[in-house]
Amino acid sequence: MESQGIYHLSYVSTGCDCLRYEQISEILESSKKHNAELGVTGILLYCNKHFFQILEGEKEAVESIFEKIAIDCRHDNVIKLQSTFIPNRQFEHWSMGFKSYNRELSPLDNFNNEEFYNYVHNQLIENEAVSLKLLANFFDLNG
Ligand SMILES: Cc1cc2nc3c(=O)[nH]c(=O)nc-3n(C[C@H](O)[C@H](O)[C@H](O)COP(=O)(O)O)c2cc1C
Repeated sequence: MESQGIYHLSYVSTGCDCLRYEQISEILESSKKHNAELGVTGILLYCNKHFFQILEGEKEAVESIFEKIAIDCRHDNVIKLQSTFIPNRQFEHWSMGFKSYNRELSPLDNFNNEEFYNYVHNQLIENEAVSLKLLANFFDLNG
């Protein structure tokens, strides 16, 4: 694993109509706990019912979580964007970082854009992960 680096998986999906603050809060709480147990870190963005998530860690751990996520009925249209190995963990301080672009969910945010924005832009020089570029572009556009 060491020589391959960190397994990095990203996807987008669409939240179901029934999703409210409480359900998203529950998803976040259980994700943080579960991911910490498996040494998985990452970020989840929510914007107008759409999710974008990056998971990183050992390949087996990330894949086992993603298998559950893919069949979770609280969202659908789960489309994997990328699965690859990258040199370093990008979200080591977040068992699941969360950033919402809908004001009613902002109390759940636990993510400092500015800190990560600078970090990602520095990492991009040596990092080929297209989902990190996507994330950096998204932050460029939306703050
Ligand atoms: C958008 C979205 C993101 C999720 N992210 C994670 C995650 O990062 N980690 C996790 O363990 N579960 C995540 N879940 C929940 C899983 O789909 C699933 O409910 C959970 O892993 C079930 O765990 P259990 O089998 O131990 O009950 C997410 C669900 C949704 C809808």
